[in-house]
Amino acid sequence: MSAGCNQTRGVRILITAGPTREPLDPVRFLTNRSSGKMGYALAHGFQSGGHSVLLVSGPTVLDVPDGIDFIPVETAAEMYEAVNHAIRRMDIAVFAAAVADYTPRHPSGQKIKKTGETITLELVRTRDILGSARGDFGFTGTLVGFAAETEQLEANARAKLLGKRCDLIIANDVSKPGIGFDSDHNEVLLVYPGYNEAPPAASKHDLAHHLARTILNLHQRQHTNPTDDPSFQPTPP
Ligand code: CTP
Repeated sequence: MSAGCNQTRGVRILITAGPTREPLDPVRFLTNRSSGKMGYALAHGFQSGGHSVLLVSGPTVLDVPDGIDFIPVETAAEMYEAVNHAIRRMDIAVFAAAVADYTPRHPSGQKIKKTGETITLELVRTRDILGSARGDFGFTGTLVGFAAETEQLEANARAKLLGKRCDLIIANDVSKPGIGFDSDHNEVLLVYPGYNEAPPAASKHDLAHHLARTILNLHQRQHTNPTDDPSFQPTPP
């Protein structure tokens, strides 16, 4: 079954995916272990249901699924600008990217040469892209974030749900072996305002298709007036 079965077609979805790269000098950067697999699988899940997907992605080795609009970015600042430019045209925004929280204050224009025994890097905070969606970007659609945690999964995810004004946080415990960053499998906790759901662990592909349906249902519950759509079947939370 495709992600969009029983869903209104033609929903516009923005997805961020992958890691960011924060340059130290022309040949070095700070990054993280995100593979981008979850975001790309989600993009495929939405697109195969007949929806329009814009994928804003940091560098990965993955192929962009056919039929998906794609904006490649490197840094957190570039991802912020790309999202800011596009998000107001979207119905749903899903932030699966592992965005660097800090970036070097003064990236060097030349390769940094080794000098002393130690080196100190000064890092400054990047802007929180998901945290800017409701306020700075004025996004009013369905807003979904991810939370990669190593402890207190539900409490930390719920703090992000409230702090970033999301409709759903998809939380995963990245300290568990065999799931998360580099893996093909994932196990998530869905944290909504007032309740949680725990779908069974699955391949990232199967889980992504399940999540695409879940997010489309959530969007439909929030943005469709049932009296306007006689085929609308409310999904219990
Ligand atoms: N996120 C973002 N921009 C950032 C940092 C995070 O858009 N600069 C988004 C991620 O894509 C994810 C969510 O915010 O959807 C949570 O990211 P995470 O790294 O788990 O949390 P942080 O907000 O960075 O908080 P912390 O690292 O302190 O847990």
